[in-house]
Amino acid sequence: MGDSIQFVLNDQPVAVADVSPMTTLLDWLREHRGLKGTKEGCAEGDCGACTVVLELADGRREPINACIALLGQIDGAAVRTVEGLRGPEGAPHPVQLAMAEADATQCGFCTPGFVMSAYAFAAGGEAPELDTIHDALAGNLCRCTGYRPIVQAMAAIARLPIEPPARPQPRSASASFGAFHAPRSLSELLALREAHPDALLLAGATDLGLLASRSRKPPAILIHVAHVPELRMLQDGSNSVTIGAAVPYAEALPLLVAHFPALKSYLSRLGSRQIRTMGTLGGNIGTASPIGDMPPVLIALEASLSLASRRGTRRIPLEEFFVGYRKTALDADEVIASITLPKLRPHEVFFCDKLSKRRDQDISTVAAGYRLGLRDGKIEDVRVGFGGMAAMSKRARQVEQALKGEVFSAIAFEAAAAAVAEDFQPIDDWRGSAAYRLQAAANLLRRLYWRIAEPGSTVEVEAL
Ligand SMILES: Cc1cc2nc3c(=O)[nH]c(=O)nc-3n(C[C@H](O)[C@H](O)[C@H](O)COP(=O)(O)OP(=O)(O)OC[C@H]3O[C@@H](n4cnc5c(N)ncnc54)[C@H](O)[C@@H]3O)c2cc1C
Ligand code: FES
Ligand code: FES
Repeated sequence: MGDSIQFVLNDQPVAVADVSPMTTLLDWLREHRGLKGTKEGCAEGDCGACTVVLELADGRREPINACIALLGQIDGAAVRTVEGLRGPEGAPHPVQLAMAEADATQCGFCTPGFVMSAYAFAAGGEAPELDTIHDALAGNLCRCTGYRPIVQAMAAIARLPIEPPARPQPRSASASFGAFHAPRSLSELLALREAHPDALLLAGATDLGLLASRSRKPPAILIHVAHVPELRMLQDGSNSVTIGAAVPYAEALPLLVAHFPALKSYLSRLGSRQIRTMGTLGGNIGTASPIGDMPPVLIALEASLSLASRRGTRRIPLEEFFVGYRKTALDADEVIASITLPKLRPHEVFFCDKLSKRRDQDISTVAAGYRLGLRDGKIEDVRVGFGGMAAMSKRARQVEQALKGEVFSAIAFEAAAAAVAEDFQPIDDWRGSAAYRLQAAANLLRRLYWRIAEPGSTVEVEAL
């Protein structure tokens, strides 16, 4: 049977031995533990009704979607649900009081999820600014109250002194919960990968978790990569930045934004805080979706991957990793270990764009990344990556050719916009027609020109 899954729940240690590790945390809380405060709305990470808070070893408290987190992933963690919030002498918690005082609840179904997002926000000590509040609430939907009073409650609880977090009890040795393997070193991970070619690798489960929640067909064998130190490294080298494949977005963000500032607003639109607490770059690349947000941007940034197996490690440019619709160059015994990005040189600029139906919580219809070397009024070098335009994210070679070596001018970018149709023959789907995608990509290139030519002069339209 294997080890029991051990974690801290609302300050109390818990050991679970008789439940499948592929059970969602939400199902376990509600059906096995009787904690019905955490709700199921969409069962796919979108509505936030299932939000609980992870209390991390470094003291951070981050919201997650319990509906797509698997029980095996929670081993060694500390989790707080709405039942674990208590005020002094049996009174409601101050966050709950603030919601009640602002009339921020009506039918109440979404409220525990909002309360937990608000709790994480208050504990983070962030300023009560509208942008920050909206960002903290982007992963929660309410269909009857209206958001104004909820935002008001959030402003009231910002920087509220919050009790210290529970301490997680991470395990140091590898564990196996039946068919859920959780290695603690790269060599163990690679041995497991070789021994179980049919197993799926699991990082944050913000893609794979949907098999257990929405589809109710959890994977048969999983290898959880999230505790392997080599896949959790962050390295700020002299000429490059390296990010372990299993580093969650929330942890990678400061390093990425320090070197590529345009990623700040771009990443704030990748899912929600709940998704960014768990989701990883390795998972975004591993899933090989043609509309994943990061591949086009990373291709423009000349990212390379380190792929590890027991045979050794090889490095491959990201643009060569995608070989077809959801097909990659990863061998059956390999894992993505890390992603390396060369830093921008002094004459280089980097921008990125995402068009989606909603600002938050929506994968892109078209996404683009651009890295340009500008010197003496000329476009010395250029890399452009697009997603949502083909069966996989890829470089726009004709667009690049139209720009490279040209004088930096509106005329050059008009030629680049015209070249989009030579690079791509996108498909029609419910996110956008082929004609829309071609027009949008061309317009993004025109906007790029104005952004560089007259910074501050253009409206930064983020969702069209
Ligand atoms: C509500 C919601 C909103 C979302 N919004 C966005 C969005 O705005 N933009 C976007 O791009 N995505 C979005 N996603 C998708 C998802 O969050 C991302 O793709 C995320 O980066 C996946 O990372 P993960 O660690 O959770 O991957 P997982 O679900 O753990 O794994 C995804 C895939 O990658 C493989 N994999 C994981 N790690 C490795 C590794 N080290 N080596 C090889 N293969 C590996 C897995 O086997 C699996 O096939 C959203 C998902 C949800 C549920
Ligand atoms: S139930 Fe909707 S996000 Fe989990
Ligand atoms: S209060 Fe009814 S859904 Fe939010």
